[in-house]
Amino acid sequence: MVDSAKGSAQKPLRVGVVGVGVMGCNHARVFAGLPGVQLVGVADPSVGQTEFVGRTLGCGTFPDVGKLLDFGVDAVTIAAPTHLHREVALTCIRRGVHVMIEKPIASTVEQGHEIIEAAKRAGVTLMVGHVERFNPAAQSLKEAIRNEDILSIAITRVGPFPPRMSNVGIVIDLAVHDIDLVRWFTDSEITEVQPQLSSAKAEREDIALLQFRTASGVLAHINTNWLTPFKARTVQIATKRKYITGDLLTRQVTECFGFQPDGSYSMRHLSVGHDEPLRAELGAFVKAVRTGTRPAVTGEEGVASLEIAIRCLEVGGEAIGLPLRKPRVVAR
Ligand SMILES: NC(=O)c1ccc[n+]([C@@H]2O[C@H](COP(=O)([O-])OP(=O)(O)OC[C@H]3O[C@@H](n4cnc5c(N)ncnc54)[C@H](O)[C@@H]3O)[C@@H](O)[C@H]2O)c1
Repeated sequence: MVDSAKGSAQKPLRVGVVGVGVMGCNHARVFAGLPGVQLVGVADPSVGQTEFVGRTLGCGTFPDVGKLLDFGVDAVTIAAPTHLHREVALTCIRRGVHVMIEKPIASTVEQGHEIIEAAKRAGVTLMVGHVERFNPAAQSLKEAIRNEDILSIAITRVGPFPPRMSNVGIVIDLAVHDIDLVRWFTDSEITEVQPQLSSAKAEREDIALLQFRTASGVLAHINTNWLTPFKARTVQIATKRKYITGDLLTRQVTECFGFQPDGSYSMRHLSVGHDEPLRAELGAFVKAVRTGTRPAVTGEEGVASLEIAIRCLEVGGEAIGLPLRKPRVVAR
């Protein structure tokens, strides 16, 4: 499948989605509307899910990934539960199929490395679904700090308990988005972690206050919980010359600059795009497949963010004696 995908710029890229639950349905919907792409089919053991997606989007339905691969695809998104990412990814990669894998890349760092190595050996594109990088507000923030000397980053990602609780806590489920944002905003790796975790209502951690220092010296703070009655996702970045605030939900990004000795300063709203983040993400994946270039979020980056999340669980769980050490990612 690799050669046909690379050598056929004019032909539509044949894609499939493995796992069409909450996230996979969105991947299928977006793929179905992307130019130059043909959504060939979806694979999921849940007949109800595949029939719904097949009927709505007019694509093939398959009970498992093997049958989807037999039918013939150039690339897939893997949006099955995280504990299956390794197995499904290796199956696709061995068949020469390009892989877009939902975050987190896998249940463990070792599994993530296995996927990366397999993709390298097979010469296929591997991209990880850290979709928040494609949020236009996050992109506006990234642009605003280009060439700036970043001092600190504070991210808040809070909300009520999800309707269906997964068996992972909030660090693996939500904070991993922001760990990835910190690494991406700073173009640097997190070298120190100081996590505070607590379990107020759930079996696993549902409150996390995570502090980091990056190799470049930036201090970062992530405040996340499932106890806030409303959803909020905000970012504040202080640089030597600017203070920028961004709302990832309303997509308003504002910067304060021109600080004067008398305490006055100027303020302006920054321009923010309007693309759907998932559409931009899948467009970037398709481009990487077609051009054979480095994908926007590599497997290595996915593993680096997972590694920090797991370190937060190890250190933070140890401190409060909760069984938080290993992210036991199991089926929902
Ligand atoms: N990027 C994001 O913002 C985001 C948001 C939610 C979930 N996710 C990630 O997406 C993945 C799926 O999460 P979800 O919330 O959609 O879960 P979900 O439970 O809603 O969906 C998972 C689907 O996978 C199917 N499935 C189970 N075993 C399978 C198999 N062997 N082969 C194919 N399909 C199988 C299930 O039947 C179900 O339909 C997880 O890795 C999760 O971390 C990412």
